[in-house]
Amino acid sequence: MTKNYADQISLSRADLVHLLGLSARSAAPGAQTSLRRMARRYRDNNPDVAKAIVETLREGPTRSVASGQSLDAPLDSESKLPLIREESLTPQQQPILDAGVRAPLEQVIEEHVNGSRLLEAGLAPTGTVLLSGPPGVGKTLAAHWMAQSIGLPLFVLDLSAVMNSLLGQTGANIKRVFDHARRTPSVLFLDEIDAVAKKRDDNAEVGELKRLVTVLLQEIDNWPEGSLLVSATNHSQLLDPALWRRFDVILEFPLPSLDSLAEGAATFFDAPMPQATLRMIAKLYEGETLSRLERDVLRARRTAALRGTDPVQALLGAVHDRFDSMPVRDRGRVAADLSKHAGLSQRVISELTGVSRDTIRKYSRAT
Ligand SMILES: Nc1ncnc2c1ncn2[C@@H]1O[C@H](COP(=O)(O)OP(=O)(O)O)[C@@H](O)[C@H]1O
Ligand SMILES: [Mg+2]
Repeated sequence: MTKNYADQISLSRADLVHLLGLSARSAAPGAQTSLRRMARRYRDNNPDVAKAIVETLREGPTRSVASGQSLDAPLDSESKLPLIREESLTPQQQPILDAGVRAPLEQVIEEHVNGSRLLEAGLAPTGTVLLSGPPGVGKTLAAHWMAQSIGLPLFVLDLSAVMNSLLGQTGANIKRVFDHARRTPSVLFLDEIDAVAKKRDDNAEVGELKRLVTVLLQEIDNWPEGSLLVSATNHSQLLDPALWRRFDVILEFPLPSLDSLAEGAATFFDAPMPQATLRMIAKLYEGETLSRLERDVLRARRTAALRGTDPVQALLGAVHDRFDSMPVRDRGRVAADLSKHAGLSQRVISELTGVSRDTIRKYSRAT
């Protein structure tokens, strides 16, 4: 049991909120995540504190650098369209990542935040990172989060703008983008790098793509110490192996674990929710991405808001066919879990899961 220290030191609510606000606005890696976890921990026993935490999280972190498109952002010489976008995170968007991916990303952030310590040891921070994995697992989000945690603007290389430019212009455009990123303290993000970096022996679009990869390779080789280049790809197998080798750190984003899915459900519902309900939703979405879960939860919340019904019920209603593919025993257990914890009637649960009320009662007694 945790002691109730708050009673002993009688921290005023105003001070608590102030402290929370400071941490919510801090760019320290993990600050937002810890606050989120705290909010969930306090939800049941200390809703007042949980609410204060959620409020401060809503205000979100502040940018530590002035935002806005820089004046000299490179443009395509023909179309005059910008070749990069400068982007900042909207508050509250925090990737939910399994430790295997989170830890190395946090280390890269820390290396850049505490660059001087590395310098004293004669080392440079990680310069190039490749994020690879299926669509919708949070690669783009992670790149934004890294830049924000480091406190630098994120320059996104707009590959469609670059690729649309006239033949022969593309290489020059890529060079211009890298030059710009080198001049300005920033994180350069090459999203969906496979668009440019298809295997050079891919016969379809040989000439131009081949030249592009060569330019990209040169630019990465000349990437200055102390700067950070992040790339993402959904198709690492399409990447030229020569490109692959250039990256200091390569991270495979797996599909989310059940814990991550449960954490995602809690975040996306943005309301106190029993652990059993979160676990059940996670089980239903096993093998899916957080992107998919987020979309479904938001739709369920909209449906529920319009009809004045329960959002969890709306979500389960939308995906109730997933219960069909569950082994019978799992289904019985999930239904019993739901009836105990989710605040839904046995009739509703029975309709959603296709498990009879008798069976639900049987499993409820058994657990
Ligand atoms: N790991 C994650 N944590 C939190 N939200 C996520 C995560 N993965 C995906 N999402 C949600 O789905 C959206 C799309 O994810 P995105 O980062 O674009 O995926 P990717 O770049 O891997 O295709 C995100 O903006 C976010 O709202
Ligand atoms: Mg992406």
